[in-house]
Amino acid sequence: TALIPKHFSTKYSFGIFKILKLVIILFVWMQGFFLTVSPEATLKVATQSSTHNKTFSLNLSAPFISQFYKEPLMKVMSYVDILFGNETEAASFAREQGFETEDIKEIARKAQALPKMNPKRQRIVVFTQGKDDTIMATENEIRAFPVLISDQSEIVDTNGAGDAFVGGFLSQLVYDRPLTECIRAGHYAASVIIKRSGCTFPEKPDFH
Ligand SMILES: Nc1ncnc2c1ncn2[C@@H]1O[C@H](COP(=O)(O)OP(=O)(O)OP(=O)(O)O)[C@@H](O)[C@H]1O
Ligand SMILES: *[C@@H]1O[C@H](CO)[C@@H](O)[C@H](O)[C@H]1NC(C)=O
Ligand SMILES: *[C@@H]1O[C@H](CO)[C@@H](O)[C@H](O)[C@H]1NC(C)=O
Ligand SMILES: *[C@@H]1O[C@H](CO)[C@@H](O)[C@H](O)[C@H]1NC(C)=O
Repeated sequence: TALIPKHFSTKYSFGIFKILKLVIILFVWMQGFFLTVSPEATLKVATQSSTHNKTFSLNLSAPFISQFYKEPLMKVMSYVDILFGNETEAASFAREQGFETEDIKEIARKAQALPKMNPKRQRIVVFTQGKDDTIMATENEIRAFPVLISDQSEIVDTNGAGDAFVGGFLSQLVYDRPLTECIRAGHYAASVIIKRSGCTFPEKPDFH
């Protein structure tokens, strides 16, 4: 997994691909925020991922990305294999795209079906909703997955919950595990993070 920090220049992010020769990079995960720094670099990473058959995933990052970076976002979208976001970001994206629905499952379905460059790899859309079910849309179905913690008194600090979710999700995806396992690991990682103060975790994971 290549984690590409926010402030890389086009040259630098492209250089990473060259250095690693695209052999060991299997997955690329990017923040939508990167569009505010360099749409060109974002697009380049996206197209290179597609050319070399790597999984490219993107986080919607914030409602203002869908609003004010609509054009570069949609250029990149056609390369996105996995789209992550929370309910607020999904709603903003839907408004900006004229989806004419506030139903999160319907938004996920429509985002899944947006045009895609590499049709060999169908897009997956994953929207988290805090304590409510996580929604996943694939080519064939839309499903809701309950989160792990229901007892709200166990929660200490939800900062970083979304990022922890994605970390857990990708931890299984890189091993080619089923998407249901990716979601389960995402919920596990998020549940650990929110029961602790700050973005900290215990020495040993307890995910089986
Ligand atoms: N109140 C909660 N109760 C149970 N689980 C939660 C709660 N808040 C967050 N989570 C867990 O964290 C995951 C991501 O949460 P959320 O949708 O709030 O992400 P986010 O808004 O992107 O988070 P962040 O606070 O990092 O911006 C959820 O799918 C769930 O597993
Ligand atoms: C692209 O990657 C997928 C999954 O990683 C693999 O199944 C497929 O064979 C690859 N296609 C090409 C053309 O390399
Ligand atoms: C979703 O994420 C945004 C940041 O993009 C945050 O402001 C918002 O509170 C989050 N929404 C929910 C419901 O957690
Ligand atoms: C997406 O990025 C935002 C901003 O860094 C973060 O708050 C959020 O948790 C992330 N959500 C997911 C699902 O990756």
